[in-house]
Amino acid sequence: MGVKIIKPEDTFGIRKKVLRENIPLPYEFPGDFDENTLHFGYFVDDQLVSVASIMKSSHDYFSETNQYQLRGMATLTEFQGQSIGSKLLLEVMQFIEERQAELLWFNARIKALTFYKKLGFETIGAEFDINYVGGHYVMYKHLKRS
Ligand SMILES: CC(C)(COP(=O)(O)OP(=O)(O)OC[C@H]1O[C@@H](n2cnc3c(N)ncnc32)[C@H](O)[C@@H]1OP(=O)(O)O)[C@@H](O)C(=O)NCCC(=O)NCCS
Repeated sequence: MGVKIIKPEDTFGIRKKVLRENIPLPYEFPGDFDENTLHFGYFVDDQLVSVASIMKSSHDYFSETNQYQLRGMATLTEFQGQSIGSKLLLEVMQFIEERQAELLWFNARIKALTFYKKLGFETIGAEFDINYVGGHYVMYKHLKRS
């Protein structure tokens, strides 16, 4: 039980099921295999049930030099609402804070805004559309530097 670093391809099954069902977009993201990209998984017993990836990537909205983008945050449907996604994302934030990351940002689906707001993320800018997926906002949080 808990969070582990996983291989890029280990995220694909959950991304496909949770983020790409009836959505004809790739489940593999550019940068998945870059050396500064990290993939995290939450395990219950030996089953991978939630995934999140972070990539070194800057958004024009922000001036910080050490920015990371969160991608592919997803929990298997039958494990949602059990605080697993929150625990996973909190560990991811702690991990990159220890690596002097200053800011974490991502494109958030409207449906997931409450989840991210509870963890202290804020929206910035106007709503925008991603083909096949729908409305999104950029969300971000400044990280504590250790
Ligand atoms: C968003 C998501 C990753 C959250 O993971 P999770 O493991 O369910 O997260 P938690 O159990 O820690 O949830 C915390 C809060 O998120 C919200 N939440 C959880 N599951 C949700 C769901 N299925 N739909 C809407 N909100 C949900 C609730 O507000 C919950 O707070 P509460 O438990 O006090 O009610 C997960 O619901 C998911 O995979 N959703 C589908 C894919 C998706 O939208 N990913 C985000 C892309 S930007």
